[in-house]
Amino acid sequence: MDKVILITGASSGIGKETAKLFQTKSWRVAATMRTPEKAEDLQKIADIETFRLDVTDIDSIKKPIADVLAKFGRIDAVVNNAGYGLVGAFEAATPEQIERQYQTNVFGLMNVTREILPYFRAEKRGIIANIASIGGRMTFPLYSLYNSTKWAVEGFSEGLQYEVEQFNIRIKIIEPGPIKTDFYDRSEELTRREGLTAYDHFIDKALPNMKKAGETAPDGRVVAETIYEALTDGSKKLRYGVNTKNILLARKLLPDWAFFRVIKGAILK
Ligand SMILES: NC(=O)c1ccc[n+]([C@@H]2O[C@H](COP(=O)([O-])OP(=O)(O)OC[C@H]3O[C@@H](n4cnc5c(N)ncnc54)[C@H](OP(=O)(O)O)[C@@H]3O)[C@@H](O)[C@H]2O)c1
Repeated sequence: MDKVILITGASSGIGKETAKLFQTKSWRVAATMRTPEKAEDLQKIADIETFRLDVTDIDSIKKPIADVLAKFGRIDAVVNNAGYGLVGAFEAATPEQIERQYQTNVFGLMNVTREILPYFRAEKRGIIANIASIGGRMTFPLYSLYNSTKWAVEGFSEGLQYEVEQFNIRIKIIEPGPIKTDFYDRSEELTRREGLTAYDHFIDKALPNMKKAGETAPDGRVVAETIYEALTDGSKKLRYGVNTKNILLARKLLPDWAFFRVIKGAILK
């Protein structure tokens, strides 16, 4: 029987590429998103079905899971992909912006995980792939809020694997480096406080370099391929990097002061 994958945030970028790749590997795909009306291209592909799911709304999570089980008869893997970056000086962020960033990147991912676990536990199988980031293992200037959400995803995922392993449920953490998607454009939210100009020179230096990293990066397909590997390699490996080059090795080997100097040299030049 064909396997079934449920993906959150499948309207663009990594989520959409993952939906398309798994379809070519004979999986049946539940591509969930906030506005399925905009996904006509995915809807035309056989074995991809779209479902409405906003990770910040618990009621909107229960229904698609039930609908996918009714339609496809099973779910083998869930990819917690929905997320975006709140970027800029921390001091300029409103409490509402910070709350929304956590509601989506952290609590949303936890909500979906909590809703799927009873099913996976009953089936005594299942894989949950959480899309963290290289920014969950290190940090970048002006990304303190986004980074903190991805550090939360790392800690949550690593902690959770101890308790669900006994039910044959595996957790995978995917850690993409820069990837060319809507992340750096449409999806990015900037912190902004009226009259606060003290960080402007810093922002003017750092943000273009961060954006440039995104523009010159590979597209979401490379992450989709790594997600495929993570969901099918049969291993107990927890973390999978994508386009992280040697930066995580440098993070490991260098003392903090030397590593921060490297980051500042690259981003604040
Ligand atoms: N691109 C990178 O460089 C990079 C690097 C590391 C990690 N990541 C992570 O990869 C994941 C996917 O991002 P991407 O790069 O593919 O960017 P993207 O193209 O902007 O995709 C983000 C997706 O998340 C969805 N989303 C946002 N809020 C949501 C909510 N409340 N409920 C459901 N879906 C929601 C968006 O839906 P709408 O269409 O409705 O807005 C969109 O489908 C994110 O978790 C991101 O943090 C990206």
